[in-house]
Amino acid sequence: MNSRLFEPLKIGKIEVNHRIIMPGVSRMRATDDHVPTDMMLEYYTQRAAVPGTLIVTEANLIATEHRGYTNAPGIWSQEQISAWKKITDAVHKKGSYMFLQVMTMGRMADPAEAKKEGFTIVGASAIPWTEGAVVPEPMTVESIRQMVQAFGQAAKNAIEAGFDGVEVLGGNGMLIEQFIQPVTNTRNDEYGGSIENRTRLVKEILQIMATNIGPERLGLRLTPWSRYLNMGMDDPVEQYSQVLRAANDLQIGYIHLVESRVKGGDDVVSNDKLDFAFPLFRGPFIVAGGHTGDSARKLVDQDFPESDIAVAFGRHFIANPDLVFRIKHDLALNPYDRSSFYSLKEPKGYIDYPFSPEYLESEQTRSQ
Ligand SMILES: Cc1cc2nc3c(=O)[nH]c(=O)nc-3n(C[C@H](O)[C@H](O)[C@H](O)COP(=O)(O)O)c2cc1C
Repeated sequence: MNSRLFEPLKIGKIEVNHRIIMPGVSRMRATDDHVPTDMMLEYYTQRAAVPGTLIVTEANLIATEHRGYTNAPGIWSQEQISAWKKITDAVHKKGSYMFLQVMTMGRMADPAEAKKEGFTIVGASAIPWTEGAVVPEPMTVESIRQMVQAFGQAAKNAIEAGFDGVEVLGGNGMLIEQFIQPVTNTRNDEYGGSIENRTRLVKEILQIMATNIGPERLGLRLTPWSRYLNMGMDDPVEQYSQVLRAANDLQIGYIHLVESRVKGGDDVVSNDKLDFAFPLFRGPFIVAGGHTGDSARKLVDQDFPESDIAVAFGRHFIANPDLVFRIKHDLALNPYDRSSFYSLKEPKGYIDYPFSPEYLESEQTRSQ
C-alpha cells in the first residue's frame, strides 16, 4: 500500500528515507557518571536498522550543575563525547541519522541524585511539582545566563560527537517548560509575567545554539496540552503560538509536537488538537503520541496531505528494533514490557527485543 509515510523528507540538513522517527525515550542505561555504554551502542545500532531512519536520543543532561536523573547520559565531558561518537558512527554506518536530545530538569531533578552529586534543585519559581516535594530555588538571572551558555556548549559538543543535530526538550514538565508556563513561572523579571517574557528562555537557548551550530541543525520538542508532572495551561494556544513564531523566526530545522492523548509515556483521553501549530512554523513537523502504523498513514496521507509531517513512535520503537520494516510490511509488533522501561543498567527489555523473521530474511537476501 503506497503511503507518504515511506517517502523521503528533508529535516534541516538531512533527508530521511521515510517518515517514521524514533523520539527521545529515557532508559537509564548510562553509567553512574552519565557516560553512554556499549549496551547503548547495541540498542541504538539495532534501531538504526532500516537505512534513512532518524533517531532522536533519550534526554541528555548538559552540565554538572544541571544533573538530575540517575543513569541518564550527558554531553559535557570528553568521555561522554567520545562514547556518543562511537554510537553516532555506528548509526551512520547503517545509513541512518541521529539527533541528540538535551534538557535541564529544574524542579523535576531527583532529590536523591542532588544529594549524592551535590547540586541544587532549581526552578523558574519556588513551586514544587507536587505537595511535599522539594521546593526549587528560583534561578537568578546570572544562573539563567550560565545555563544558556551551557546549552550553547552542549550543541557544540553534540556536533563534535558526530550528531546530525540537536533537539531541545521544551516540554514534558522539564525546566524550559517550567519557564514557558505560568503554573510554574510567577517571576516578575524579564523571564516572567508576560507571554513574551515566558518565551525568552527558550528563545535564548535556541539562539545561542543556532549561532554555534546553525539553526537548521536544531529541533524543538513541545508538549502544549500535556498535564504530565502537574503542568498544563487552560488555554496554551497564545503562549505556544509565540514560542512557535520565535522558532520560525530563527529558522530552526523542525518542531516536534506531542499529541494531547499522551501524558509522558501513558495514554489519556483528550480531543485537544495540535492544528493551531501547523500554520505558525514553516515545517517540517514531527508528531508523536499513541500512533500505530494505520494512524500514522492516515495522518500523513489523509489529514495533512500537503504538510511535511513525520510521525514518532516511542513505546513501539522500544519493543521493535525493526519497527520501520514492520510498519511498511504490515507485520505484527512485539508488545512492549513497561516494567523494564527504566530498569537501571539492565540488558533485559533493552537489547533483547527480537527482529522479525521477515526482516532477518530480507537482510540475508540483501547480503547474498
Ligand atoms: C520509557 C519512556 C521514556 C521517555 N523518555 C523521554 C525522553 O527522554 N524525552 C522525551 O522527549 N520524551 C520521552 N518520552 C515520551 C516519548 O518520546 C513519547 O512522546 C511518548 O512515549 C508517546 O509516544 P508513543 O505513544 O509512541 O509511545 C518517554 C516515554 C517513555 C515511554
